[in-house]
Amino acid sequence: MAVDDLSLAQLRERRSVKWRYYPADVLPAWVAEMDVTLAPAIAEALHAAVDRSDTGYRWADEVPGALADFTEYQWSWRLDPERVLVLGDVMTGIAQSLLQLTDPGDHIVINPPIYPPFFSTVEKVAGRTLREVPLMAGKDGYAIDLDAMERAFADPLVRGYVLCSPHNPTGTVHSARTLQAIAEMAAEHEVVVIADEIHAPLTLPGAVHTPYLSVAGDDARATSCLSASKTWNIPGLKCAQLVGTQSTAEVLHERVPLEATFGVGHFGVLGTLAAYRDSRDWLAELLTVLDARRTHLESRLASLADRGVSWVRPQASYLAWMSIDGLGEDPAEVLLAEGRIAVNSGLPFGAPGVGHARINFATSETVLDEVLDAMGAVIDTHAS
Ligand SMILES: Cc1ncc(COP(=O)(O)O)c(C=O)c1O
Repeated sequence: MAVDDLSLAQLRERRSVKWRYYPADVLPAWVAEMDVTLAPAIAEALHAAVDRSDTGYRWADEVPGALADFTEYQWSWRLDPERVLVLGDVMTGIAQSLLQLTDPGDHIVINPPIYPPFFSTVEKVAGRTLREVPLMAGKDGYAIDLDAMERAFADPLVRGYVLCSPHNPTGTVHSARTLQAIAEMAAEHEVVVIADEIHAPLTLPGAVHTPYLSVAGDDARATSCLSASKTWNIPGLKCAQLVGTQSTAEVLHERVPLEATFGVGHFGVLGTLAAYRDSRDWLAELLTVLDARRTHLESRLASLADRGVSWVRPQASYLAWMSIDGLGEDPAEVLLAEGRIAVNSGLPFGAPGVGHARINFATSETVLDEVLDAMGAVIDTHAS
């Protein structure tokens, strides 16, 4: 599989943020980009467009149908293409859901530790008030604290919830029962649920993703934000899908301004169609590789357990959330300064991120080993 084929020299040729943000002596294992070669059908679609000098504005009409076919194939859940809006990225989908389905002054629940733009999108883009209900950490993993959610939803100020499913950074795949409980609470207290399901196709062997809208039902005040961008490693191309229910789709179609769709890229549309339609085998192969890499990471981190490193095995995607004792509040800062490796600082993920870092393991075993060797060496220095 291509994940294994790319050398560090080839990866360092890349111009994307993962490979350009830090100086050349830093080994990056941070932002959610994968060290893979493109799925052949996507590469072909993009090459063909370049050959045609086909670089105009996007025409996205086929995306909703392609998404519906894909979700039916992947989760036996067929959504109605009429209820899909095509937007540039998932965070725009979340922002538009908040802006069009909630009101200024409303409180919006999120579950830290969480993907940092959730904080800023709720507060700064949508101008709503954050209500934090942290995930519960248990020895078997992280979970949504349903009692705390019930208390939050019962507060009349709380009118919305941005659900991360699967959850970034912990890789939690929420159970169908949990999602059912959320849907029931949301219906009872009339809370709008906005499900970010960008990592869903990357659910790894051993876990099963349940699309939120499939349990919430047609009249739920809910949306789902999906995209091929994480799964097929095309986030720079810009194409995401905002899916409504019977009760929200009409409102979104009516209220989301045309300008909000301007961020959709023509290459994003072409890449997305090639991904959903013609790159399903590639995805199956990728999941096998990521599963193996997760196992490798598990054994390497186990050998650091006696030096204060702990983690919970992610059930989805290629990001792992680690607690590192002995490197202070922000282990990522120390690892960068002393080990010349870049992992994500836990701090922007919210209060539970103190003493934590997020590592990206979507790379070859060789590169991952280099990152972990450097991490181990820094930890050893501080332990002695
Ligand atoms: C949970 C989650 N939502 C959204 C995004 C960003 O997606 P987009 O670039 O489509 O806004 C990411 C990127 O890593 C993510 O992890």
